[in-house]
Amino acid sequence: MIRREKGRRRDLWMLEYDKGGGEEEEGGGPVVTVAKAADNSSDDGDNNISINNIVNVTIIFTKKFQTSKLKLPPGPQKLPIIGNLHNLEGLLHKCLQNLSKSHGPVMRLHFGFVSVVIVSSNQAAEEVLKTHDLDCCSRPETVATKKISYNFKDIGFAPYGEEWRALRKLAVVELFSLKKLNAFRYIREEENDLFVKKLSEASQKQSPVNLKKALFTLIASIVCRLAFGQNLHGSEFIDEDSIEELASRSEKLQAKFAFSNFFPGGWIIDRITGQSKSLNEVFSELDGFFNRVLDDHLKPGRRVLETPDVVDVMIGMMNKQGEDGSFKLTTDHIKGTISDIFLAGVNTSATTILWAMTELMRNPRVMKKVQDEVRTVLGENREKITEQDLNKLNYFKLVIKETFRLHPAAPLLLPRETMSPIKLQGYDIPVKTQIMINVYALARDPKLWENPDEFKPERFADGSVDYRGLNFELLPFGSGRRVCPGMTMGIAMVELGLLNLLYFFNWGLPEGTTVKDIDMEEEGAVIIGKKVSLELVPIRPH
Ligand code: HEM
Repeated sequence: MIRREKGRRRDLWMLEYDKGGGEEEEGGGPVVTVAKAADNSSDDGDNNISINNIVNVTIIFTKKFQTSKLKLPPGPQKLPIIGNLHNLEGLLHKCLQNLSKSHGPVMRLHFGFVSVVIVSSNQAAEEVLKTHDLDCCSRPETVATKKISYNFKDIGFAPYGEEWRALRKLAVVELFSLKKLNAFRYIREEENDLFVKKLSEASQKQSPVNLKKALFTLIASIVCRLAFGQNLHGSEFIDEDSIEELASRSEKLQAKFAFSNFFPGGWIIDRITGQSKSLNEVFSELDGFFNRVLDDHLKPGRRVLETPDVVDVMIGMMNKQGEDGSFKLTTDHIKGTISDIFLAGVNTSATTILWAMTELMRNPRVMKKVQDEVRTVLGENREKITEQDLNKLNYFKLVIKETFRLHPAAPLLLPRETMSPIKLQGYDIPVKTQIMINVYALARDPKLWENPDEFKPERFADGSVDYRGLNFELLPFGSGRRVCPGMTMGIAMVELGLLNLLYFFNWGLPEGTTVKDIDMEEEGAVIIGKKVSLELVPIRPH
């Protein structure tokens, strides 16, 4: 039974309920009726949306007790309405890792009305991403992802279907191919040279550098140049500071809208709490940026470079397409794709380099070993580093691998949704179930890794495990049909960025701090980054 109390706006509703129920019913979930009525007058002066006359939610539960014949995965006891939301505390990947220790590697939870299966073993991950890939490669729809993907006209959030397949194929062939990667090599190298120049200035002053910001700017500059043709150092409508702000605010939005996503009629609560407003505000900023990028490309007389950027390529294709009944590229597809590239490409790569530097500072033995290798192999007094130099390095690559293991940028990948019922490790998983693969838990599973929390690149010395989607204990880029299409570009940006930091500089901590002061706290929604920046003093050794 449920009793609702109205509280202050920010407290939303306080729920009290009888425990009990707990039967698993398939196909006959609770029915909710939402009725509009008068509400409390606000005692909260800063409300954005008046809550006078808003809502009285009447919920009538009619549980259809159906005896389920399905063998569903185990999970913590759920409560009426909220399901297991009360079990979720702190960062989701860590919380789910803990819960799976008690409930097993295939665990079922209810986020409000949504049924979610969490996978935390490499065998189960392989079943989802390989054996049943085709049955599990759709994405759940949420209010925020619908918005930032221009109504699913994108690659990352679109449900599986003809449109997604066509757009993904286009991206793989035209936008993220090896040919494109090589053609844009000069952009990555030029931006890294500029990055080293700026750090050298800081090293002359012996002043600490905010590495989070510096790395974010480096990666955003590369991505904006090769995807949108925008040079951040001279762009008329976006600068380095605002782009960082915009990307981090947009990323956080993906996890918002809990009520709309998990409860029928939840949009009402999202309105009250201001979630809708904050989504719309950030979206309109993002959309404004993308519109200017698009307008810039559509200007009459624009000269397309020898290697056209992503927007040029897509506009070219849009203009050429015929009248046949096949997939039609629209400006929303272009905006959806650049939104993906912006959201998926920048944070992930910058965060990975930041974690690599953080771990190296905490592990001076590894830092010395990798810098010795880098400087011995590349030789002294180099003025520039190129991507060809990367091929000569061995231990350096292990350091990157170990960083991807301990700090996967998207620890739960992007959620998938089953398109038909499947059997997973002997359990029945119904259609339309969300599946989250906890790659963070897989990469720290003591059954799979010795001293899993230790940063030890040597564990990969025999070369048997890689991170490109074929070894299911290490999946920083996912696997299967939805594997990250920007993987090669992401790796190139991470490797070149880190190599420049390690070759050209030694790194000291700001005066009065020690390694113990390095904060390891994480933050984020889908992409999890380092909460506190890493402040380090660059010192030029030669
Ligand atoms: C270190 C860098 C990167 C990491 C760790 C990373 C990681 C990921 C992960 C975990 C996924 C979800 C895979 C799944 O659901 O199975 C993903 C998807 C995606 N990534 Fe990346 N990514 C990186 C860089 C990039 C870059 C540079 C781009 C584009 C320029 C990009 C574009 C995408 C897109 C479009 C998707 C959606 C794919 C789909 O749903 O079909 N990523 N990425």
